[in-house]
Amino acid sequence: MEKVIEVKNLYKLYRVGDSVVRALDGVNFELYKGEFCAIVGTSGSGKSTLLNMLAGLEKPTKGEVIISGVHIEGLNEDGLVKFRRDNVGFIFQSFHLIGTMNALENVALPLSFRGESKSTRLKKADKMLDLVNLKKHKKHMPNQMSGGQQQRVGVARALVVDPKIIFADEPTGNLDSHTSEEVMALMQRIVREQKKTLVMVTHDNHLAEYADRVFHIIDGKIVQIEDNRLKQVDNLPEEDKTGEKRKHNESDKPDGKRKSEEREGESK
Ligand SMILES: Nc1ncnc2c1ncn2[C@@H]1O[C@H](COP(=O)(O)OP(=O)(O)OP(=O)(O)O)[C@@H](O)[C@H]1O
Ligand SMILES: [Mg+2]
Repeated sequence: MEKVIEVKNLYKLYRVGDSVVRALDGVNFELYKGEFCAIVGTSGSGKSTLLNMLAGLEKPTKGEVIISGVHIEGLNEDGLVKFRRDNVGFIFQSFHLIGTMNALENVALPLSFRGESKSTRLKKADKMLDLVNLKKHKKHMPNQMSGGQQQRVGVARALVVDPKIIFADEPTGNLDSHTSEEVMALMQRIVREQKKTLVMVTHDNHLAEYADRVFHIIDGKIVQIEDNRLKQVDNLPEEDKTGEKRKHNESDKPDGKRKSEEREGESK
């Protein structure tokens, strides 16, 4: 598996008056091509700070962020702009669509920063809107679309430059629960089909179930990593389950193991 993101010993400290806030307090993990990862934690736990470090929007106090072999923390502003343009798509909580442009024009916009011809831009945008099931809404302005439709335009716009990585900070924060599930299912499908790496921040444990792995963050520390792919053994026949369970225990993270042991203890 191709390693896309590597975070080593990452710290972000903010000085506020006389005190110091440890927004990130020694974070380590690796993410691979085709992985959908959710970062889950309560308000103030450090989720957005972590995402900002990964996207190179803020400099860490200490530590390393390596993306496709490049040290992001060492790049200057020009290098970061180029890195984001070539590698990263963003999906925002409040969609950030341009109100005076229709769906097609909004999706095509990121391509104009790459000097592609208008016909190429529109052709690519058209294909992306098909992908997110908005065939009938290409000419609609943002205010003529529902929240879920607008966010699907947002997803298409993030994907149109064919980025390696997509970052999403509370992408369904402005949507009702049913629409949120639809957008999650869409993002999950696209990450799998197109082998992207998606890092999503949310405070919602239920929505995090759509991710392959869930990183739980408390006070700037990742305290547990859950692997939802291993949980899918529940759908397998009995004989397969034993094999899968054995594999699970061998490779389990210490925190995950402790949790399952606790559960076993309770049932005795
Ligand atoms: N620019 C800053 N200056 C000082 N403290 C900051 C700054 N940015 C964030 N913090 C602090 O760092 C901690 C983590 O903030 P962060 O925004 O990452 O939380 P979050 O998990 O994204 O929360 P939310 O769910 O509310 O968006 C908080 O205690 C916050 O007050
Ligand atoms: Mg936040």
